[in-house]
Amino acid sequence: MLTDISDVLADPVDGSPLNLDSDSSRLESSSGRYYDVAGPGYATLTVDEVHADRADDDGMVTARETFLSRGHYAPFVEAVTGAVQLALDDAGVADDERPVICEIGAGTGYYLSHTLDDVDGARGVGIDLSVPAAERLATCHPRVGAVVADARHRLPLRDSSVDVITVVFSPSNPAEFARVLRPGGQVVVLTAEAGHLTELREPLGILDVPEGKVEQLVESSSGWFEPVGEPELVEFTMRLDQESIATQTGMSPSARHIPSDLLAERAAQLPDHMSLTARATVTRLRVR
Ligand SMILES: C[S@@+](CC[C@H](N)C(=O)[O-])C[C@H]1O[C@@H](n2cnc3c(N)ncnc32)[C@H](O)[C@@H]1O
Repeated sequence: MLTDISDVLADPVDGSPLNLDSDSSRLESSSGRYYDVAGPGYATLTVDEVHADRADDDGMVTARETFLSRGHYAPFVEAVTGAVQLALDDAGVADDERPVICEIGAGTGYYLSHTLDDVDGARGVGIDLSVPAAERLATCHPRVGAVVADARHRLPLRDSSVDVITVVFSPSNPAEFARVLRPGGQVVVLTAEAGHLTELREPLGILDVPEGKVEQLVESSSGWFEPVGEPELVEFTMRLDQESIATQTGMSPSARHIPSDLLAERAAQLPDHMSLTARATVTRLRVR
């Protein structure tokens, strides 16, 4: 709920603190701007109108919700939560200090809510550019507050207010991450690796994940961050039926690039069940 995190939120225009009014219907900045809280309990904190070109649409968010609820990515969620625990340990932050964990591009909140279940007392901020995602985020966990915002711009968060930032298959903004993290805070990033879902590339005509994504992440963050230890490769095999494969494809960037009827036609040619490789790397970054 936004009440849990209103001490963390800031006006996207000038960074001044935002406070929730007594009936939780709007946020007011100390410089006099107001932002309404939408029905399910999220706020849109953007300077301009939301340009949702990169945001997941309702169909993609529904596919994500269905696919993740089947537990196919359990090793990824365990790895992200484990890395958040390590980051909090490194910073010496105890669970009862109510640490703030912010996920950027949080989607349905699957990863964030799992982490909050594990870190008793922690509070979550779920940020996503997609309104359908924010609707799910607002109700994904009692200790999550949901915000529609564009991670490419100034984040609607106060300076030094967040203990850990997580980024799972989503965009990064290292300059802003460095601004909003508390001293000792870390970023935990899950990045798809070359070979992820490789068995589907040819039959569905979707692009492979390029090599070197982690190196690129470290390089592009190097003005603000340095890696903590070695990146951890998480690799496993999933046995999926045709319907789960269609759901996976429906939540992925392919859903945007290939017409849905063509994708469905290709998916219908796949065997009833397939073993697919899941491959991603968890990287932890701390401020230099
Ligand atoms: C691949 S999905 C990952 C969602 C979630 N992390 C998960 O793994 O279940 C990427 C998410 O980032 C969001 N997104 C894309 N561009 C964004 C931006 N500029 N700012 C904030 N969110 C963005 C999309 O709407 C989508 O929910």
